[in-house]
Amino acid sequence: MSKGRIIVTGASTGIGEATVRHLMADGYEVVATARRGERLARLAEETGCDWVAGDITRDEDVARIIGEAEIGGPITGLVNSAGGAVGLDPIAEAKTEDWLTMYERNVLGTLRITRGLLAGLRERGGTIVFITSVAAHETYPGGGGYTAAKHGEFMLARTLRMELVGEPVRVVEICPGLVKTEEFSKNRLGSVEAAQKVYQGVDEPLMAEDIADCVAWAISRPPHVNIDQITVRPVVQASSTLIARNDNPPTALPTTSIA
Ligand SMILES: NC(=O)c1ccc[n+]([C@@H]2O[C@H](COP(=O)([O-])OP(=O)(O)OC[C@H]3O[C@@H](n4cnc5c(N)ncnc54)[C@H](OP(=O)(O)O)[C@@H]3O)[C@@H](O)[C@H]2O)c1
Repeated sequence: MSKGRIIVTGASTGIGEATVRHLMADGYEVVATARRGERLARLAEETGCDWVAGDITRDEDVARIIGEAEIGGPITGLVNSAGGAVGLDPIAEAKTEDWLTMYERNVLGTLRITRGLLAGLRERGGTIVFITSVAAHETYPGGGGYTAAKHGEFMLARTLRMELVGEPVRVVEICPGLVKTEEFSKNRLGSVEAAQKVYQGVDEPLMAEDIADCVAWAISRPPHVNIDQITVRPVVQASSTLIARNDNPPTALPTTSIA
């Protein structure tokens, strides 16, 4: 018997994709969503998940994602993994369009799909997971736009938990540190070479599956248990800017230790 039907955003790669695999293996029904439908179709072939392609920064896409997802059965959970960073500019050189993109993806996109599912979740009970970041709670030089967006996403989780108190909806925030995913740093910095530097000298960064494991654990607690927040980093990371790299003594490397 299905344990519930969960929408996972950002499911075409990285943490979202790993979360789909993990939840499917645990016996949930999962609806995977992201913009790249061909990747979702492949994931569906492999795992048996359902999928709907769409852009969470567009109202009409979000309405369609929710409508199609609900055809398969009532939704009991949402994992907000879609997001990401653009650039590493200091505030003095900040590009307004990069900040807008980050705000749209991490905050407003997450707001749209969360808001769209809320009525149903309140009625039947469920869980909303926000994958924010340690960047939702810290900052670092060059991180102004991303940390501002992630702080904003954190406020969605924190406010919602207050607004829903006493109702059967759990609100979970997961704050990962350095996670080695295929696309996150490449998309942020613009090249594979620049992305490799982020993980240089870190033999064991977190992997997407480590975060998926946290998501699945939080969701699988008994319904009266709300895991408010999990901060999870690799053992070699103490903060966004303090990473013990094996080619360096522990030192602050603000431009290369982003998460
Ligand atoms: N990797 C890290 O070190 C790290 C650390 C802390 C927190 N995080 C956060 O954790 C989440 C997942 O990270 P990740 O490393 O898995 O990122 P990723 O590999 O870059 O994946 C981002 C996902 O978001 C989707 N997406 C982006 N814009 C979208 C849009 N407008 N509409 C719908 N989907 C969209 C992408 O799919 P399409 O391109 O197919 O749409 C992709 O599936 C993000 O919110 C990230 O900020 C990451």
